[in-house]
Formats: sequence, structure tokens, C-alpha cells
Amino acid sequence: MPELRVGALQLQVVQQTNLLDALLGGGVAVPYSCRAGSCHACLVRCVAGEPLDRQPEALAADKRAEGWRLACQCQVVEDLQVEPFDPQRDGLAAKVAALDWPSPQVLRLRLQPARPLRYRPGQHLLLWSDQAVARPYSLASVPSEDDCLEFHIDCRMPGAFCDAARRLQVGDTLRLGELRGGALHYDADWQARPLWLLAAGTGLAPLYGVLREALRQEHQGAIRLLHVAHDPAEHYLASELQALAAQHANLQVELVTAAQLPAALAELRLVSRQTLALLCGHPVTVDSFARRLYMAGLPRSQMLADVFLTRA
Ligand SMILES: Cc1cc2nc3c(=O)[nH]c(=O)nc-3n(C[C@H](O)[C@H](O)[C@H](O)COP(=O)(O)OP(=O)(O)OC[C@H]3O[C@@H](n4cnc5c(N)ncnc54)[C@H](O)[C@@H]3O)c2cc1C
Ligand code: FES
Repeated sequence: MPELRVGALQLQVVQQTNLLDALLGGGVAVPYSCRAGSCHACLVRCVAGEPLDRQPEALAADKRAEGWRLACQCQVVEDLQVEPFDPQRDGLAAKVAALDWPSPQVLRLRLQPARPLRYRPGQHLLLWSDQAVARPYSLASVPSEDDCLEFHIDCRMPGAFCDAARRLQVGDTLRLGELRGGALHYDADWQARPLWLLAAGTGLAPLYGVLREALRQEHQGAIRLLHVAHDPAEHYLASELQALAAQHANLQVELVTAAQLPAALAELRLVSRQTLALLCGHPVTVDSFARRLYMAGLPRSQMLADVFLTRA
């Protein structure tokens, strides 16, 4: 049986055991969320030996070259020594600069990182609580317009991270893990194309960043933003979006509840084959967006989606 070493701990592991399971089974508190190679909460660095990686493309080449692997995607096939990601050593400190509740269930968190972070609207970051809970959250800010990193945290359900987030106060420190590009971004080449931004819940966060970036770059095509929320009180950016729509004639904003969504989707009509759709939020709603757009004639290649996979 291969030996798995973490610091002074030595574990005998059955061949081909999933590395995350082996670490958790041995009492090593590696955080994880999606188990699908998406959130990157389960990063470990291989110091000796090489696991079998089922999804090497999920990590950037430079990270892989440094020995980082996603434990949830690896199997132990030979003796291995690993170091879990240590937020104190490997992460970046960020102070809570502001927080407020734009709706009863959404916490808006503004963080000031210890050094400037280069990012593009639509990317996401791993946030580490002081209890070493790591979860991915999308950036709602735009680097050229906002001093702080802005996040919208859905606190509707209890959860390890959102329970900690509810207790945060201005001046508290979190650690930032890996910055990652999902599918969502704005490309200057899209200037004249119709843009559909379909968001469910806090799936609005990265699309709000992308929308403001598109407007900042003076996007010329029509922009249609649809936000679906459980109830009207959860359209947490309604006033900001309506203010933008009042300033930009090419922006149309629709706020619908979950109950109204099927009717709103049935009314979607493709007016141009050039349309691009950016989708974000809970996997089930994103799937219903994508299916309806496909039925309306939009090729899958013109849909960019980030889904908020969770641990449950
Ligand atoms: C790339 C990416 C970007 C994301 N960006 C955002 C964002 O900008 N904003 C945002 O709000 N979310 C975002 N998410 C989702 C967010 O990371 C998850 O919702 C996260 O898991 C919440 O963490 P938590 O610790 O609060 O909940 P967890 O403790 O991880 O629990 C996950 C969910 O399961 C439920 N749950 C927990 N235990 C049980 C149980 N025993 N039985 C039934 N249900 C249970 C919880 O209520 C919770 O809803 C993103 C996800 C991804 C992958
Ligand atoms: S990438 Fe491994 S738990 Fe999400």
C-alpha cells in the first residue's frame, strides 16, 4: 500500500484512493466544497511523489509546475508527501472595509487586500474564514472603478462560510486564496453584439461586474439583464441596475421571481444570431436558462456559464 505523508503524519492508503478522501480519513482538515475540480478549495502541494490526476486541465500550468494539485481530482498511486494550502502562508490577507445587507438574505462584503490584486470582472476567488473554511465567491467589482474587492454572499441557508460571514465586522481579516477566471468576462471584440446576462440569486455578482465593464467600454449592442430571485425583496441590486438602465439606452433590466421565471424564459426570442449569453447562479436555474436559450436557437458555443456548485 502506498504511504501518504503530511508533516509528521504517515498514512497507509489503499491504491487509487481519492487523495481528498485519504487526507480527510487520516484526520487532515483539508477544506473542500464542490469535489468537481471547480472551486479549488482542496489545493495541496505535492512535495514528493506524483498522484494520478483525473483533471490536470483544471489547474493553471504554472500552479501545476509548483506542485499544486486538486486533492478531489487525484488518486494515490505511489508514495506521496503533500502539504495542504496554508492560508496564512500561501494566501493574501484582506481586511473587511465595509459590509451591508442590500436585501434580507444577501451580504455585500467589501475587502481591502494587503496588496493590489490584478483581476478582471467576472473572476472568482477563494475566501478563507478565520476558522479555515474556504469557499469560492465571485467578484462583483470592477478594478478600474472600485477601490475594494466586492462580493455578494447568499446567506439564505445556513452554511459553514455564510455563518462565519454573518458575524464579520469592519476591520476583521480574511485570507484570499487563488484568483481564478471562470467563463464569465467581457471581451472588447463583443462591442456591437447583443449581450444577454441571465443571473439567478447572487449569480448576479459576477454579471454585475461584467455589465459595468461592458458599459465602461461603451458597449454598443443591446444588453438585456435578467435577474431571478426567490421573491421581490431579493432583487438586491434593483436600484443600482435601474439607475444604470436610466443612463444607458441600450440596457434593459428585467427582475423576475422564481415563480415568474418559466413565463419570462418562454418569452425570450432571439433577435440576432450574434447574441452572446452569459449565465450564472445555481446549477438548476443555469441549466434551465441554457435549455431555453438553446431551444430559442442560440448555439451552446455562444453561451458562457459559471455555476455555483456547493458542497451539498
Ligand atoms: C466558482 C464559484 C463561484 C461562486 N460565487 C458565489 C457568489 O458570488 N456568491 C454566493 O453567494 N455564492 C457563490 N458560490 C457558491 C458558494 O461558494 C457556495 O454556496 C458555498 O458552498 C457556501 O458555503 P457555505 O460554507 O456557507 O455552505 P456549506 O456549508 O458549504 O453548505 C453548502 C450548502 O448546503 C447546505 N447544507 C449544508 N449542510 C447540509 C445538510 N446536512 N443537509 C442539507 N443541506 C445542507 C447549506 O445550507 C448550503 O446551502 C460560488 C460557487 C462557485 C463554485
Ligand atoms: S475543486 Fe476540489 S473540492 Fe472543489
